[in-house]
Amino acid sequence: MSENTGGKIALELVKPQRYQVLYQIVLGDQPIGVIELDHIAWRSGEAELKISIHQEEFHNHGYGTKAVVALLEHAFTKMNLSRVYLRVHANNPIAIRCYEKAGFKKEGRISRPTEWNTQEEIFLMGISKTEFFKYSEAKSKTM
Ligand SMILES: CC(C)(COP(=O)(O)OP(=O)(O)OC[C@H]1O[C@@H](n2cnc3c(N)ncnc32)[C@H](O)[C@@H]1OP(=O)(O)O)[C@@H](O)C(=O)NCCC(=O)NCCS
Repeated sequence: MSENTGGKIALELVKPQRYQVLYQIVLGDQPIGVIELDHIAWRSGEAELKISIHQEEFHNHGYGTKAVVALLEHAFTKMNLSRVYLRVHANNPIAIRCYEKAGFKKEGRISRPTEWNTQEEIFLMGISKTEFFKYSEAKSKTM
């Protein structure tokens, strides 16, 4: 279980663009990372989520999951998107666990060559609007 300090995070909009919205993740008054929806496809209602909490000292406190859930809620209620997806390295268990806690499911796996002539494994993960609200409701009943 990741250490939950009870710290509240807020998302502050930095850069609204037609196909991308970027937020700073703020803890108290300290920016600790960024989260964004990129490649927003308004017609199909899809976007790609990306997140980074910059310093390791802020990893594993639940902030990433809180930020992902907050952005999904915004994406599905205010932006009226229908699906959010992401790509994550198969060797990044913290990120995978964080996304799963927010309700994402693995949808596929690709292997691609790196610049060092090795292969890297990438998981594709996604969540639909319906799945998100179903998952959130089920989670709130177990809390
Ligand atoms: C990925 C990232 C956003 C996750 O945010 P976070 O605040 O660290 O994650 P959370 O604390 O919300 O959740 C982490 C979960 O991973 C678990 N975890 C930690 N190390 C783990 C490991 N080695 N194996 C499996 N699970 C692990 C934690 O226990 C926690 O799950 P739990 O609450 O069920 O116990 C953040 O760590 C980060 O920015 N990392 C660097 C950049 C990055 O990797 N970005 C993602 C690119 S796709």
